[in-house]
Amino acid sequence: RLRIDATRPGKPISGDLFGVFFEDLNYAADGGLYAELVQNRSFEFSASDHRGWDSLTGWTLVELDGGEGEVVVESNQPLHANNPSYAVLGTRSDQGRVGLQNVGFAGIALTEGQKYDFSLFARQLADQPSELVVRLEDHAGQAITEARLPAPDASWGRLAAELTASRTIDNARLTVCSTGAGRVGLDMISLFPRDTFQGRKNGLRRDLAQAIADLRPKFVRFPGGCLVHGDGVDNIYRWQDSVGPVHQRKGQRNIWRYHQSLGLGYFEYFQFCEDIGAKPLPVVAAGVSCQNSGASVTGRWGRGQLGIALEDMPAYTQEVLDLIEYANGPADSRWGSVRAASGHPEPLGLEYLGVGNEDRISPEFAVRFQMIQQAIAERYPEITVVGTVGPAPDGEDFANGWEIADRLRLAMVDEHYYRSPQWFLENLTRYDGYDRSRSAVYLGEYAAHDQGRRSTLRSALAEAAYLTHLERNGDIVQLSSYAPLLGKVGATQWTPDLIYFTNTEVRPTINYYVQQLFSCNSGEELLTHELAGGEVPGLPVSVVRSAESGDLVIKLVNTSSAPRELAIEVTGLGSGVHTAAVTVLAGQPDDVNHDGLGRDLAPVQHEVEFGPDYHHTAPPHSLSIVRISNG
Ligand code: AHR
Repeated sequence: RLRIDATRPGKPISGDLFGVFFEDLNYAADGGLYAELVQNRSFEFSASDHRGWDSLTGWTLVELDGGEGEVVVESNQPLHANNPSYAVLGTRSDQGRVGLQNVGFAGIALTEGQKYDFSLFARQLADQPSELVVRLEDHAGQAITEARLPAPDASWGRLAAELTASRTIDNARLTVCSTGAGRVGLDMISLFPRDTFQGRKNGLRRDLAQAIADLRPKFVRFPGGCLVHGDGVDNIYRWQDSVGPVHQRKGQRNIWRYHQSLGLGYFEYFQFCEDIGAKPLPVVAAGVSCQNSGASVTGRWGRGQLGIALEDMPAYTQEVLDLIEYANGPADSRWGSVRAASGHPEPLGLEYLGVGNEDRISPEFAVRFQMIQQAIAERYPEITVVGTVGPAPDGEDFANGWEIADRLRLAMVDEHYYRSPQWFLENLTRYDGYDRSRSAVYLGEYAAHDQGRRSTLRSALAEAAYLTHLERNGDIVQLSSYAPLLGKVGATQWTPDLIYFTNTEVRPTINYYVQQLFSCNSGEELLTHELAGGEVPGLPVSVVRSAESGDLVIKLVNTSSAPRELAIEVTGLGSGVHTAAVTVLAGQPDDVNHDGLGRDLAPVQHEVEFGPDYHHTAPPHSLSIVRISNG
């Protein structure tokens, strides 16, 4: 018997507990959420991004109908200093056509009848004008759509065309052809579906963005992860390189061994947060780079960090302050005006700012972190700085990080841990005895890693059990996010991920549904409950009340192989029969979605009448949500 007392107000808990962690890892941004269909559109790829890559990676020269020509990469008088390389297409005769062809991110997926926005920047380099034609075609060279572009000028100009796909295909290629003997410079060759999420220009892939929106995250952390601090000072993510006109952004090497165009940049992250009603939680580097990168210092702290030189730290600290002004400053402030120029004069409502990501807590870290944290505290005391307590090697358990957090009296710190399902089940009291006078916790990265790093029901239920524990401690654990969020099938550097995807499909894991069920059924008040005979091993429970609806939500995780029948008794519900939505996610522990071996698991919901004799049977290996309506 489960007894719940709804007569009195419960313990206030964080309404922001369930969010998402986005990192451009596993082609999550370029080739993923960012809807750009052309790979290496700005000819900036290089061997430093990935061994064997160069400025023409992704591109092939094509000579058609007897045309002859060449493509070279130049950087003289570029489109913008941040975007130095461009392609020069040279045609040697008036005969035929010469073009550049791109296969996108392992194929360009097109849908019949849909419109696509094509654009490029071009510059005529020889007297004789070239005529440019853009074409989307299949692998047999059959046109799916094509358009003629206006002749380019002698200085850089943007040319655009609207294309409509005549059929559905998942592996089209894009060709930009030039006719007539001449040389033309080309840059930022871009193709977007018109149908982006919320119809945004330079927008996001609708289906993937919707899958994230459907989690109803209370916040979105971006842009990482290790991507934030990079693997050297020159690889730190600089937010200001990612805003403003797209062709002026400064793409860079992605620490996960590919290239980040920054087309999906801070403006687009903020806009996405607003579009889905989530709070933005950007994370900036604490002036040091990844704990896993290189070594300059040895000794007590182990491998050292490559940090920004101390004399450069005031300027770097100012960049962090500038970010806050970019987000929250008036439209006529220096950085607020950059935001306004992108079409968002109103402030973006930044509340949280992460400083540092899982950095080794060394003296180099400490001095730089403190400079940034104190500057923010002085200039923007209303911002909650989320510190980091570093990586958690077995046994060490963040000790160094906590020492700094206590000393600086940080409002919140970010903990990360990836452990076995068993570990999560054995740690369901981790925060129970936590000293409430210390910093609040953001569990910024976690996932239960099962054998073979598969996204099994076993791992999902271990996470669900842990989430009941976080809810029960939602006064002190104020934010949490599973990590990582996205993984492109066949292009991952890290598994497991919450959502897998291809160019045409979105494949939610079972773990995704656990996140969704918790987030869509979150509350701001924790109600006390009592299980007759005491807590049942293998049956974690949490009970919350939603401030918005007044609904009471019971979450039950049955990790055992036997069904568990519970009489549920709620006092203080008000008289009469209430309706309840009962949602159950159940299966076998080894079940994995989209593995081709069987049916995919998804929650199943039905409505019941909730009265004094209500019984719920939690199936073996299941998460049940009983949401009792207030009305
Ligand atoms: O989530 C994947 C990686 O795990 C993150 O980039 C990093 O912060 C952590 O080590």
